[in-house]
Amino acid sequence: MVPWRATADGDVTPALLDWYTRLAAGRPGVLVVEATGIRDVPSGPLLRIGDDRFVPGLARLVEAVRAASGGETLVFIQLLDFLAIRRRPAPARYFGELLALAPRHRVRLARVTGDATNATASDDVVRAGLAALAPELRRQVLSPREREALDRGARERVTDTHLPHIRDLPRTLPSFFARAATRARAAGFDGVELHYAHAYTMASFLSALNTRDDGYGGAPEDRVRLPREALEAVRAAVGVDFVVGARLLSKEAVAGGTSSTDAAGFAVALGRAGADYLSLSVGGKFEDARQPAVGEAAYPYTGASGAETMPTVRSDAAGPFGRHLPAAAAIRRAVRAAELDTPIVAAGGIATFALAEAALARGDVDFVASARQSLADPDWFLKMRLGRGDEIRRCQLTNYCEALDQRHKPVTCQLWDHPEGEPRRLVAPGGVGGPRTKP
Ligand SMILES: Cc1cc2nc3c(=O)[nH]c(=O)nc-3n(C[C@H](O)[C@H](O)[C@H](O)COP(=O)(O)O)c2cc1C
Ligand code: SF4
Repeated sequence: MVPWRATADGDVTPALLDWYTRLAAGRPGVLVVEATGIRDVPSGPLLRIGDDRFVPGLARLVEAVRAASGGETLVFIQLLDFLAIRRRPAPARYFGELLALAPRHRVRLARVTGDATNATASDDVVRAGLAALAPELRRQVLSPREREALDRGARERVTDTHLPHIRDLPRTLPSFFARAATRARAAGFDGVELHYAHAYTMASFLSALNTRDDGYGGAPEDRVRLPREALEAVRAAVGVDFVVGARLLSKEAVAGGTSSTDAAGFAVALGRAGADYLSLSVGGKFEDARQPAVGEAAYPYTGASGAETMPTVRSDAAGPFGRHLPAAAAIRRAVRAAELDTPIVAAGGIATFALAEAALARGDVDFVASARQSLADPDWFLKMRLGRGDEIRRCQLTNYCEALDQRHKPVTCQLWDHPEGEPRRLVAPGGVGGPRTKP
């Protein structure tokens, strides 16, 4: 869970150590550290692992988890690659500098204005003319991708193979993942989780919307090729005594997205390639994200697919509780039918002992994961184990935390970040060693 507590350069901070210390004090079986950038490129306040200089800070983080959990909690780190996305520009800036002027813009401007001189006008005149057009006329002058760049901010796709760095992803990405995993091992982590879910690069390769024709798109077996090759590269780099899991989508939850049959096939392929576990999520795509305000970037959890990723009490009649378990169970059945024993993990509204236990007893999944419930009450694992379940502070599944995440603000929980009369806290108060008052 990204808490937005790294430095602007992606380094570990004391606040981040506090965050993981607090989560680890509840002694979960496994703690997966937030999505962490694997390239050495500026990524805002996203935690990074794209260079050896990040290792000492990450090692402190591992130490903090070990100390706070008494060594009981395994600590993995989630490895993330993402493609570039720009903020939505003001029209004046888009037409003034961002739009790559081409002859077709001149011709179309001349047509929609009925002024033939635009066809041979200077760049400045054409740019000013385009900026002055009414919105419906702009649509006729710009290509679909240019309209997207104007209306939402430009976004790279894995299908942009005319761009050398996108075309070369199959050549470059496996080693980015492998080097990051090697650093994770050097920092003392017990394992890595390859982020193949939501709106990011690897999920975009897996997506049914990936139409690359270079053997890495189109048919499902070609779409899973790069994620599989990256997993193999990671395994070769870290050896067999280090956990390598992957997080992928059981459903993309967008129009034209991957079918459940394809998702099951991906799970089998990654299981066969030696994934130590597969953690399933749902949705979280750019395709249906809300239009951002000028100056802001699109956020992949603002549309219907994003509502699936972090389901709230305002969802449909099926409700948020254990919402993704049926899809996870279907994938687990497919993995078992392929004679693989790869453990399957699912999250999504799992916030009570009864729900978690029932999912395990039914064999829907092998592990349950909880993001928001762990934030609402980092001690909930420990309280369950100690038979003090009546003291668990239950997540309200209303996504106050997610709204902070969306604005890249330090994530907190509405249940504990504004205790009356006290300054805003950075970490959850209390703990099972604290006073035994009901929240
Ligand atoms: C604040 C916040 C940050 C998140 N960060 C990540 C992340 O870094 N990587 C990831 O795979 N999922 C992330 N998620 C999604 C969760 O892992 C999880 O799939 C989702 O919240 C549903 O599970 P839950 O009901 O237990 O919260 C995040 C969710 C929240 C609320
Ligand atoms: S802010 Fe709301 S949704 Fe998020 S963890 Fe707290 S109670 Fe749950």
